[in-house]
Order: sequence, then structure tokens, then C-alpha cells
Amino acid sequence: MAVDLRTRLAHVELPNPILTASGCAGSGRELAQFLDVAKLGGIVTKSVMVAPRAGRPTPRMAETPSGMLNSIGLQGPGIDAFLQRDLPWLLSRGARAVVSIAGGTVDEFAELAGRLSGASGVTAVEVNISCPNVEDRGQVFACDPEAAAAVIEAVRGRLRYDVPVFAKLSPDVTDIVSVAGACVAAGADGLSMINTLLGMAIDTQTMRPLLAGLTGGLSGPAIRPIAVRCIWQVHEAFPDVPIIGMGGVSTGADALELILAGAAMVSVGTAIFNDPSACIRILRELDDELATRGIDRLADVIGLAHEPGRMPGRRLSGNVI
Ligand SMILES: Cc1cc2nc3c(=O)[nH]c(=O)nc-3n(C[C@H](O)[C@H](O)[C@H](O)COP(=O)(O)O)c2cc1C
Repeated sequence: MAVDLRTRLAHVELPNPILTASGCAGSGRELAQFLDVAKLGGIVTKSVMVAPRAGRPTPRMAETPSGMLNSIGLQGPGIDAFLQRDLPWLLSRGARAVVSIAGGTVDEFAELAGRLSGASGVTAVEVNISCPNVEDRGQVFACDPEAAAAVIEAVRGRLRYDVPVFAKLSPDVTDIVSVAGACVAAGADGLSMINTLLGMAIDTQTMRPLLAGLTGGLSGPAIRPIAVRCIWQVHEAFPDVPIIGMGGVSTGADALELILAGAAMVSVGTAIFNDPSACIRILRELDDELATRGIDRLADVIGLAHEPGRMPGRRLSGNVI
């Protein structure tokens, strides 16, 4: 790599900013035949819950213009199997494991954090708060600043102090900055954004909804402008809080767009379904995008679009910036 791509996931240094997005590469094993998982900044695992789950009924994927809808519904092995099988595998491959957790109650999130505290080798925890709160009419935690903060406080309180906590935010809110602020105040070391947007598609032949679960999460290139807007707004409000950006990234230039908006790391999700080696290609392309602009450090361009007049490496008013 020609460019210094090191970045910081809170106090943890990563060799480069490209991660997998939760739910799009399982726990990394499926990707290993296509790429060396240790070469990525990290693997963000599928959100794990306390108990094993079968997920929602099929069909649960549908293609849409420039994107896709999914209603997988947090299918997974549960935390015991994850800790026995999936985490050790990732560590044996030298990968940095960012473990995504999901729960239906604040206590469930706290239990997951407690279980992860006892495990070694967890690089960070991403808290998927885009789940229905079963104690509050199924209202999604991430859509209410107080509920989001309650989850983050509980996780922070149970997790080992040296493991960074990232709160994963939903774009399906009027004011994402207020949810971000509540999570940071509750102890989040960083923020991940964006999760999928709630969408729906109807088959005009059968005249029925395409997904068995009726609604699903929209992802892919269609949502990138929304991701850029959310990252921009949150970075503008909290410039010192590290952001893992995701949403429709399929090239190095797309990753650079999120970085210029304020992301210090970029997760790749839907693009992996088309091209299982997308993360490594995007990493190479990002390196090229920066090198061709004469930029030698990724750190110099994080949030750069917020600073009109500042160009990295160029001389402005007598100062080398
Ligand atoms: C099939 C599928 C499953 C997903 N599962 C999860 C999940 O378990 N936890 C989570 O936080 N996000 C999940 N996501 C959301 C992604 O991590 C990501 O935030 C979103 O898809 C936007 O990125 P993309 O456009 O690159 O896919 C899932 C997305 C897809 C497409």
C-alpha cells in the first residue's frame, strides 16, 4: 500500500479502515476462501443474540433498484456457540473481531456484554440498537434517544473497560444527531451508521408483498446519499467521536466519500453478495484514490469535506497542513 491507511477505532489502532458490515459476511468464515480475513481492518460479525434464532420466514431477500431488501431477522447461533466456535476461528486467522450484539431488552444487551467481557480477543463491540424493544410496544431502541442510551449505558457498564463500544444507529429517525448525542453521553466510544432503512416491495404479478415478513431493510447503493448525510450531520456535531460509516459502498471512491463526510472506518455490506472479495478490492481502490490525489495519510482526509479551503499536503497561507 502506497498510503498510510492506519486509523483508530477509539483507542484501538487498525491497519486500514475497511471492515465487513454486520450480517453480510457471517462471522467471516464464508469469506476466507476469497480473501485473507486478517488483511482487512476488521470483521464485524452478524449480530448475535443471547439465544439461537431461526430468523424470519422466506422469501426474505428481494432486489430493488440499486439496492436490496432483506428480512433475515437476526438468524444466528446464540452467544454460547458464537463464543465456542466463531470467535476462536476468527482469532486463529489473525482477524480483528468486532462483535455485533442485539437484544430485545436492555437486560439482554447487558447479558451479552457480560459474556463478551469474559472472552479475550474482542477488538470492539458494535451494539445493534435497530431491534424492537419487546418491553416498549416493539418500538425500535435506535428510534428513541432515551431507549438507545439505556442500552449503551447497560453495555458499557458490563463490558471490560478496554473494549470500545460502538452504537449502530438507524437512519429511520427525524433527528439522528440527538440519538447520536444520547449514545455518546451514555458511554459510547464511537458510532456506526447507517443500518438499513425500512422498506417494502410488492410483486405486481402475484399482487402480494415480495417478502414473507412484509417489510425489510433497504441496503446498497440506493442508500449511500442517506449514509453520507447522516455521517456528515453527526461528524459536524461530534467531530471527535469516531464513526464507522456504511451504506452502499461498492468502490474505493464510495468509501472515500463516506470518509470525507467524517467516517474513520468504512464497512462494506451488500457489495459482498455480488463480489465476495469486494472488501479487499475496495481497500486497494481506496489506496489508489488517495495516492492519485497525492495524499499520503488516510487520517488527513477524515471529515475533510467539512473544511473548505483545507487540502492535505498543499501549502495554504504559508502552513503545510
Ligand atoms: C442481509 C443483511 C443482513 C444484515 N444483518 C445485520 C445485522 O445482523 N446487524 C446489523 O447491525 N446490521 C445488519 N445489516 C445492515 C448492514 O450491516 C449495513 O448497515 C447496511 O446493509 C448498509 O450497508 P450496505 O449498503 O453496504 O449493505 C444487514 C444487512 C443485510 C443486507
